[in-house]
Amino acid sequence: MCGIVAYIGHREAYPIIVKGLKRLEYRGYDSAGVALLTPDKALNIYKKSGKVSDLEAETADKDVHANTGMGHTRWATHGAPNDKNAHPHLSQNGEFAIIHNGIIENYSTLKQALIKRGHEFKSDTDTEVLIHLIEEVFKNNSVSFEEAVRMALTQVVGAYAIVILSKSDPTYLIGARKGSPMVVGIGENEHFIASDATPIVEYTRNVIYLNDGELVIIDNNKLTVKTIDNTIKSPYIQELEINLESIEKGGFDHFMMKEIYEQPRSILDSFRGRTHVNDATIAMAGIDKFEDKLKNIKRLLIVGCGTSWHAGLVGEYLFEDFARIPTEVEYASEFRYRNPVIDENDFVIAISQSGETADTLAALELAKSKGATIFGVCNVVGSSIPRITDAGAYTHAGPEIGVASTKAFTAQVTALILMSLSVAQKRGTISKERLRELLIELETIPSKVEEALKLNDMIKEIAAEFKDSRNALYLGRGYGFPIALEGALKLKEISYIHAEGYPAAEMKHGPIALIDEEMPVVVIATQHSNYEKVISNIQEVRARKGRVIAISTIGDEHIKDHADYVIPIPQCEEAMLPLIASIPLQLLSYHIAVMRECNVDQPRNLAKSVTVE
Ligand code: AGP
Ligand code: GLU
Repeated sequence: MCGIVAYIGHREAYPIIVKGLKRLEYRGYDSAGVALLTPDKALNIYKKSGKVSDLEAETADKDVHANTGMGHTRWATHGAPNDKNAHPHLSQNGEFAIIHNGIIENYSTLKQALIKRGHEFKSDTDTEVLIHLIEEVFKNNSVSFEEAVRMALTQVVGAYAIVILSKSDPTYLIGARKGSPMVVGIGENEHFIASDATPIVEYTRNVIYLNDGELVIIDNNKLTVKTIDNTIKSPYIQELEINLESIEKGGFDHFMMKEIYEQPRSILDSFRGRTHVNDATIAMAGIDKFEDKLKNIKRLLIVGCGTSWHAGLVGEYLFEDFARIPTEVEYASEFRYRNPVIDENDFVIAISQSGETADTLAALELAKSKGATIFGVCNVVGSSIPRITDAGAYTHAGPEIGVASTKAFTAQVTALILMSLSVAQKRGTISKERLRELLIELETIPSKVEEALKLNDMIKEIAAEFKDSRNALYLGRGYGFPIALEGALKLKEISYIHAEGYPAAEMKHGPIALIDEEMPVVVIATQHSNYEKVISNIQEVRARKGRVIAISTIGDEHIKDHADYVIPIPQCEEAMLPLIASIPLQLLSYHIAVMRECNVDQPRNLAKSVTVE
């Protein structure tokens, strides 16, 4: 987690850094800090717990002039989120400053050794240990600063994206990454380093995505990329495709709301160009290459975390329904630590918005090491997961800034619908007619999502009724179950109301004990295969005085006899239900959170991209 930005060039560094940190704040917002290095070698460090705006207030009367500098917005892993633990951190002699994203796992051992050598630490962070280590290596080995950094990094176990500057050389900056993302922007006589491209996009479109184990050195405006063991690399300069508009709020109060409303477009963008209704085909260049292997696939595994895991659960139903492949969906964090049975006949799909989630990345690496074919479904182009996979599909949702995932989820489900249908076609488990029907249906989904968005005012009224609830239950069956899980997660994340998603029929095996007149129960009760059974489950809730909010199908009059509130959504193919039924649940959580005055885009304790285990 955490966001880092650095600038070295001819402009004022501070405004660039602060603006960049605000864009990266979704990655962590426990504290923010900057280090500014002036041409006459004055190093000013300002840091503050809280948001970037708190840092701005702190620096309002301070000298912030400098052409070299770096900033950090933290998601605390080691040490409380207070001023002293905020980055940047200094070496013992005050010569070197560091910002860091990740975890130095062996920091405790390193710290003990450094304390024995007389080092004193001002913070509780793992990060401070690293910069002291670099100083120690530099002092003891008569090597260059760069070499000291490389030598120190070989002693480090863990994950990092770091930027370091040296007080005595304002024309020099060094960055390195292992397991945490880092992008380098190349401008006219200026360079940028950041956790993602959003702080860079308005200054230059030329970027390099650093690979794991690589360093970038900017020395007197000359850029060098090399590995930790000193092999020079010729970096691949890419052109950025994101635009400024897509990373700003565009008139909405919150990014989350903007992103909810973007879904007709993001779903469309995620299937556009990949489907051909006329000849009932799907073009997914990456996976098409694996046609022969896919024909004989015996088992599919899907890994992910949080919302992406929920999309994976939808994927399990899709692949079993259409492609008739036994599919298991796994929490990446569990999968990687339980000696899973996996071999070269297996396919593993990792789902991740950011493409950087540490648990998902590690699960994928494990599967790869056992010979499995690995696919990815990711949203961030050039991120770590797509770079290690054999093939995959990008979701074209555009940058998702709100910490609670919305448009990325529906884009993931869209990609999984296409993948499962494409594999079904290759395996001959779906007829051309059925496939054409489904592709035609998919084309109607963006306008059905538009329809669902028109329910906003109605949902706001329902939100007002339930905003003071302490608990909520979400129920669904079949494709409705992952939707229920995702609805509950959205409510928990942004409104801090305890919510549980459950298979509707499982309720009677335990959660039913929770139901009383205080308990709102959101039920996915659309007219699909389990409709009658879901109605019975609603009756069970009502018999215990629970208050039912039903997500129903437009035109279903019958449901009004059973539910206290009815939210009617357009009729659709059952497999595409997650794309539509998720919309009212996102809106419900959003309005409840706003009414409870919660920070919708940056909920407490969370971060957008979880790059630590
Ligand atoms: C979603 O609302 C969450 N904030 C979170 O569960 C997220 O989906 C999870 O951390 C996985 O992230 P990824 O998709 O970037 O891998
Ligand atoms: N481990 C470091 C800390 O706790 C960095 C965390 C981050 O990535 O923000 O300060």
